[in-house]
Amino acid sequence: MLKGADHSYRVLLEGLNEAALTLTADGTILYCNSRFTEMTKLASAQLLGSPVQRIIKSTERKLFEMTLGQLAEGPIRREFNLQATDRSFSPVLFSIKNLGLEGIPVYCVVVTDIADQKRTEEALQKSELHYRKLFLEEQRIQGELRRLSREILRVQEEERARISREIHDEIGQTLTAIGLNLRTLKSNGKPSEIKRKVQSVQDLLEKASDFIHVFSHQIHPSMLEDLGLIPALRSFIRDFEKNTGMRIQLKASGTPGRADIDQKAVLYRIVQESLTNVLKHSGTQKATVTIRKSPHAITLEIVDEGKGFDPGDVSVTPEKRQGLGVLGMRERARLIGGKFKILSQPGKGTRVRVHLSLGGTTTLKES
Ligand SMILES: Nc1ncnc2c1ncn2[C@@H]1O[C@H](COP(=O)(O)OP(=O)(O)O)[C@@H](O)[C@H]1O
Ligand SMILES: [Mg+2]
Repeated sequence: MLKGADHSYRVLLEGLNEAALTLTADGTILYCNSRFTEMTKLASAQLLGSPVQRIIKSTERKLFEMTLGQLAEGPIRREFNLQATDRSFSPVLFSIKNLGLEGIPVYCVVVTDIADQKRTEEALQKSELHYRKLFLEEQRIQGELRRLSREILRVQEEERARISREIHDEIGQTLTAIGLNLRTLKSNGKPSEIKRKVQSVQDLLEKASDFIHVFSHQIHPSMLEDLGLIPALRSFIRDFEKNTGMRIQLKASGTPGRADIDQKAVLYRIVQESLTNVLKHSGTQKATVTIRKSPHAITLEIVDEGKGFDPGDVSVTPEKRQGLGVLGMRERARLIGGKFKILSQPGKGTRVRVHLSLGGTTTLKES
């Protein structure tokens, strides 16, 4: 029939900027323009008279044949992949229309290369995915920060409540007792009684003074500034043993350090928190605090031989409310440029270690 399309039709297709071909109802190529041979890298002699399905990706051939079958209902645009002789694929858009020459179905196909478009789409999708990931990560960190600051506020509030309660209970009661003693002194003039009351007031004042000393020391160890880390720790450990019945060994060795006050305060707090953890969680009554100093570094270790735990468990899982103690110690150590590590295992005791290099000036780091 159409020993292809007639002459004018061929001229039209050849003049097209797009690749184009005509097919019989079963997909045999009747004619193709030079753009199509360039696109497929096949000579027209190789293409003409053979089924176009041959150069369509094998998994899409069925769909292509179905598409041909649907053309009676109108033109169709559909994406397929052309398979080159080197087995590479290139995505194309087929725009197919039934020309129905002399009542016989003849399909005209315009083939548009959409590789660039696909690449752009993919690149867009990838970068969108990338930004989405960044965004989610950012949100997660924000959430974590919010959780942390809520925790810090809560702990701060608890600490204030504790301080106010202790001051109220201890000092308040002592002052009330002193007041009572003084009132009875005013009305009762017996010398023996006066002496007894004065003594009692004196005792109460001493008790209040002791309390203020210990308590203010707990809140901020001024001794650190006056006497240094080791004496401050010795004093803390003495009080700690007295209050808890624990036995703590303090081993200090090496040359006097050059740690600054921020660093000393952090090391002091880490000892406080670690010993409190030994008391609360380890199930043992003994611990050792070791400090090794050199001109260039300080290593601090708090070791117990209690029941131990899995330090991985208290890391940053948001579901488990992480103990603020371990988190706080880690964060404080980071602030002074120290390395913090917890070595522990169920049944194997716990070792908290801080290593601090003393290089040049060291002040609290901002971030
Ligand atoms: N010395 C220790 N021995 C056994 N378990 C410990 C020890 N120190 C910490 N832990 C475990 O690590 C958890 C986290 O400690 P921490 O962050 O200080 O929180 P908290 O003391 O408020 O529970 C504790 O709940 C405990 O299970
Ligand atoms: Mg704790």
